Amino acid sequence: MKDISGKTAIVTGAASGIGLGIATALAEAGANVVMADIQKEGVEQAAHGLSGTNKRVMPVRIDVTQEQTVVDALAEAERNFGKLHIACNNAGVPMHGTRLVDVPPEDWAFVIGVNMWGIIHGIRHFVPAILKHGEEGHVVNTASVAGFQNRRGTDQGPYSMSKYAALSLTEALEHELADTRIGVSVLCPGPINTNIARGARNRPAHMGGPQVRATDEAVLAERLATIGLDPKQVGERVVDAIRTNTFYAFVGAVPADIIRARHRRIEEALNSRWVTHY
Ligand SMILES: NC(=O)c1ccc[n+]([C@@H]2O[C@H](COP(=O)([O-])OP(=O)(O)OC[C@H]3O[C@@H](n4cnc5c(N)ncnc54)[C@H](O)[C@@H]3O)[C@@H](O)[C@H]2O)c1
Repeated sequence: MKDISGKTAIVTGAASGIGLGIATALAEAGANVVMADIQKEGVEQAAHGLSGTNKRVMPVRIDVTQEQTVVDALAEAERNFGKLHIACNNAGVPMHGTRLVDVPPEDWAFVIGVNMWGIIHGIRHFVPAILKHGEEGHVVNTASVAGFQNRRGTDQGPYSMSKYAALSLTEALEHELADTRIGVSVLCPGPINTNIARGARNRPAHMGGPQVRATDEAVLAERLATIGLDPKQVGERVVDAIRTNTFYAFVGAVPADIIRARHRRIEEALNSRWVTHY
């Protein structure tokens, strides 16, 4: 999609961090941006900050774990701006510092609910909304470098699992939309300086409500503040991926050696005498 100007985009998780960076970059590129987030006041403030600079933005409350709120946000977006062209399924939460055997069911449900169901609901509702008018469109799903490797010692297995799922869903979506005018990208950021360390503050009430994990959060927050990229640059990366129809949109520091080592291990396993080819 070469021209973003005048098109309408919805960005989930737009009150903070990468979502705010994407919303800002899309608005700067001339798009109408629906900023959707579970933090009602937070997203209203963020939208106010952007609209003050003459951007066409609109805040809506959404909880991507709850399908009806996705349906309602889409209807509001179409009422306000007309046709939807770009969907950024970006809302996500962390899960780190706890070994798999110790992660309680409600935390599994939380990370699966936001990071996987959020994208599934986006595919089920935003994609048909883009397809129905026949004009060009684009879908960006936020995965992570954690969708390509499980870093030893980080104890973020559930998060990484959800990001492998985001990657796989996006690969499948690319196949399914190959004969349409909708492009597809998977956003794969390295460490970015956002509020993700405190992501459990937004755990929805139906999943147990807000949670504070002070020690784990402090460790991650400090790491991201020290080495994390500015989320505005991630927004610019997304605009470029949409314009150039780039599938793997990596940005920031990528653990390339670890990803390559994983791929080499798979290659070697494929050479086993037990494997036949089809
Ligand atoms: N920060 C990083 O280092 C990094 C790296 C790779 C990928 N990511 C991914 O980027 C995405 C954005 O995270 P971020 O780092 O900007 O974090 P962030 O916490 O700064 O922003 C996430 C936003 O999502 C919103 N949100 C949370 N649950 C929601 C729900 N149920 N419905 C709607 N909105 C919800 C939050 O309110 C918040 O505004 C996530 O998918 C995350 O996994 C982040």
